Amino acid sequence: SGKKHESKILGHELAAKFYHHLLTTTEQGKAAYDYLLDRGFTQDMISAFQIGYAPDNPAALKALLEKRGFQESEMEEAGLLLRKESSWEYMDRFRNRVMFPIMNNQGRVIAFGGRALQEGQPKYLNSPETPIFHKNETLYALHKARPAIRKENKAILFEGYADVISAWNAGVNNGVATLGTALSARQAKIIRRNAEQAIICYDGDKAGQEAALRSAELLEQEGCQVQVALLPEGSDPDDFIKIHGKDKFVNEIIKAPFTLMSFKMQKLKKEKNLQHEGDRLQYIEEIVGEISKISKAVERDHYLRQVADEFDLSLEALKQEQHRLFRANK
Ligand code: UTP
Ligand code: MN
Ligand code: MN
Ligand code: MN
Ligand code: MN
Repeated sequence: SGKKHESKILGHELAAKFYHHLLTTTEQGKAAYDYLLDRGFTQDMISAFQIGYAPDNPAALKALLEKRGFQESEMEEAGLLLRKESSWEYMDRFRNRVMFPIMNNQGRVIAFGGRALQEGQPKYLNSPETPIFHKNETLYALHKARPAIRKENKAILFEGYADVISAWNAGVNNGVATLGTALSARQAKIIRRNAEQAIICYDGDKAGQEAALRSAELLEQEGCQVQVALLPEGSDPDDFIKIHGKDKFVNEIIKAPFTLMSFKMQKLKKEKNLQHEGDRLQYIEEIVGEISKISKAVERDHYLRQVADEFDLSLEALKQEQHRLFRANK
């Protein structure tokens, strides 16, 4: 916002160009380039998302910024440089990482996510909060995805950078991601401002499914119609596309999402053994509790009937239970 942030943004844009150049045209970037190709990234994906490489040299970006007249203290505030406590010397924050530039609403670079090439920790190093970068109000790739989000009146929410980029390559151009943090109310509002519908497509592991539930409820609170696209246990969208291909991803995952209630049913079932009477009763009570929170009577009725059929119960008994739970929730 405003002129006072301009040089911090220009520093990021210079860094993004520098990192992209190193990745795509230099010997220094070759190992990172091979790593990306090996993961299934194409030159097209690398250009479209301006992916780069920060070299394993603590003063590569620093020297370039200095040469172009940027102030080190300002570049430290921007998150690009760090200061060693021992010597007070400035150095590059990102070293030996694949760099994913993060853009603001105007498509200008305001931060980076940097992925380690080897299994070293942390896997991703993200820019810190700065005057130009607020994680809870930024969505990765929103600037790029916005036209498709508006056109389809639908946004797809992923967990990771690589998921957004692989999905984009599969023709799913309305994908965005949070930045290593849980979806915030601000981000949910931003999604709702651009589309009425949201599909959550998180990783097919326990953490992903727990997070999907929280994000879904938040998006619903902000007025989105939410659906959940489910991936097989242990794979994320990027893995899935690599293993099964683009068509299967689009047709069997993105175009076959579940309603939020159906997702909750599947999730609760996985946590229980329905062969056991105790678990079965508990499942019925929990799911009826969820159904009682639905505001539309027709929808409530639809799901109650489904549960009644599935467990061979009378609809009357379930309705009584629902009223009891509804009063208890008040
Ligand atoms: P994942 O662990 O699912 O990573 O975290 P990923 O995107 O599948 O990574 P790849 O495919 O191995 O490269 C999802 C997202 O959480 C954030 C990143 O934004 C990542 O894309 N994250 C993850 C971090 O910020 N730091 C970490 O150390 C790990
Ligand atoms: Mn600001
Ligand atoms: Mn994950
Ligand atoms: Mn993942
Ligand atoms: Mn992944």
